[in-house]
Parts: sequence; C-alpha cells; structure tokens
Amino acid sequence: MNAAKRPALVIAVDGPSGAGKSSTSREVATRLDCCYLDSGSMYRALTVWCSDHGIPADDEEAVITATAQLPMEITTSPKQFAIRLDGVDITERLHQPEVSGMVSGYARIRAARNLLNSRMREIITNAGRIIVEGRDITTVVAPDADLRILLQADPQRRIARREAELAGAADTKTVTEQVIGRDAADAESSEFETAANGVVLIDSSELTLEQVVEKVIELVPEELRTPA
Ligand code: C5P
Repeated sequence: MNAAKRPALVIAVDGPSGAGKSSTSREVATRLDCCYLDSGSMYRALTVWCSDHGIPADDEEAVITATAQLPMEITTSPKQFAIRLDGVDITERLHQPEVSGMVSGYARIRAARNLLNSRMREIITNAGRIIVEGRDITTVVAPDADLRILLQADPQRRIARREAELAGAADTKTVTEQVIGRDAADAESSEFETAANGVVLIDSSELTLEQVVEKVIELVPEELRTPA
C-alpha cells in the first residue's frame, strides 16, 4: 500500500466476544486496503508473557512492569497475523482456553491498559489506514476515529459461533460459561454493551458476515473508501 497516496482512515469496532468483530474487521480491512489491529491479541500476549514468567494477575505492580517492558511485535496485515514475544512466535497460543480464562484478570489493571493503549495509538498513527477492534476502541483508544461501530449479537448466537469455532472441543455448557463469564468480567473494565454517543450499533444476530461487511463499508465516508 502506498500510504502517501491514500487518505488516512481509522475505523474502530467494539463488541463482546463472538459478535463477529474479527472476521468483519479483517474482511473490511482487506477490501479497503487498510491495516488491521486486533487489540484483544495484545491483552492475550500480555497474559501469555505473565503466565510464562510466573506473574499472577493479582501482583499488579509486577504486571505493570511487565507491560511496560513487554517485548511484543505484532503484525497489522489483515491476511497474515502473528505476534512475537521476545522474538518467539506465540500466535498459536493466543486462543488457548487457559489464556482466554485468565486474560480478563490482567485486562482489568488500569495502568497496564493505559500502557497498551499507548502502543495501540502508536500503531494507529504509523498505519495511516487501519481498522482496530476490541472493547474500548470507540470510547478510549480512538474516540476520534472516522467511523465507530459497536457490533452486537444475541448471546445465543455468540455462543453458537464460539462453539462452531471450537469444533467440538468444548460442550455448550462450558462455552456458555466462558462467553458469558468473560463478558461479565470485561464489562468491569470497559463499556462495550451500549453504544456511546456517535457510535453506530450493528446487530449481527440475523446477518451474514457479507451483510455486516457491506453495512460497515457503506458507513465509511465515500472519499475515504478508495478500495484495494
Ligand atoms: O477480543 P478478544 O476476545 O480476543 O479479547 C481478549 C480479552 O482482552 C478480552 O476478554 C478483554 O479482557 C481484553 N480486551 C480488553 N480491551 C480491548 C480488547 C480486549 O480489555 N480493547
């Protein structure tokens, strides 16, 4: 992408787990020739690092120090995603159930959030054209984004999507507990259940991925679209 010839564009997408943020954001980024940042993977990488280094979430001071020094490299291509910690690719570990089970505990530490938010803003500035997804992107990380979206879906749909992703690796009861439990824990750190002022709410419950992608692209100001 030749950044100099393309208008800057920042799209912020928030929502609970299983609402379709990642698939939607990756596809929109590909069609609009944008970078893509999955902010949740940064919290997951922090969790992997702390867990590997014996730093529990209740040792806030140690977590904050680890966050400040986190040797994390993250790619921003919507087509090929990878995170390295100290040069080691840990991408495969990010969605392990142990990491999903621990991440909210680390994510609730305010000073750690502030440090990760600074890194996200740096990535956004360097990217020029980018879609960022998470829980507090529309409200805290990029409240001035060109387009801000809250992607919602019924809990039953979200649970069914997660179950399909896990392809039988967990039963419905376990997946339900995980999805609902993590949402409840995350709701204490960020407000992603109701759309803030100026944030467009899209309910994906009855929509296909293609329909959600089209809706998002329609909302991007035309002069900023410049498709790939
Ligand atoms: O999006 P994903 O489910 O991968 O996010 C993993 C976790 O990272 C969330 O459950 C939440 O605890 C944390 N998170 C956050 N703020 C963000 C993105 C993710 O607190 N902007």
